[in-house]
Amino acid sequence: MPQFFKFRPFLPLTAGTATAVLAATLFAGCGETAVEDTRPGQPVKHRQAAFKEIVKAFEPMGVQLRKNRYDADQFIPMAEALAARRDGPWPHFGPDTHYPPSKATAEVWKQPEQFEKARQDFIAATDALLAATRNKDKAQVEAAYETLHETCKSCHKQFKER
Ligand code: HEC
Repeated sequence: MPQFFKFRPFLPLTAGTATAVLAATLFAGCGETAVEDTRPGQPVKHRQAAFKEIVKAFEPMGVQLRKNRYDADQFIPMAEALAARRDGPWPHFGPDTHYPPSKATAEVWKQPEQFEKARQDFIAATDALLAATRNKDKAQVEAAYETLHETCKSCHKQFKER
């Protein structure tokens, strides 16, 4: 509770303020789940879940590298876990699937060749990371991880809302 509220205990809350405060509380932390994907097959929900699986596999590798705790033998199954998830989102980008709660930009459907190119760059980068990981060469692993990270960022820049 911020100080602001503690020192104004007798300030009467108008109904409007109370509603606003309640709404802010309800939606804080809910994020995208505030809008449900109710369409048949729930493509937006499925591709978002698939991206969450990707980031869950991606992030622990970044933690090891950033904290200078690279362990070649631990890294191999992590890179394999990411590779196993890399195909998850794409089948769920069908035609007419740009609607809330999607955070994709319209560019996905307007520039399909570029989107496909960005997807292929990402796939290739996961292969390169896997190869570097199996070589157990830390510098090569770090470079491959960074290249992979760039493929996420460059696709998001054009195809995902911030
Ligand atoms: C070829 C394009 C592309 C690549 C490559 C890509 N993403 Fe995304 N990502 C998207 C799009 C488009 C969305 C928005 C999907 C939607 O909301 O409909 C998204 C959404 C996400 C989300 C949000 C999911 C949610 O719950 O809303 C995360 C997290 C994410 N991506 C992580 C990553 C990571 C990590 C990488 C790289 C390892 C990556 N993405 C690579 C296009 C891409």
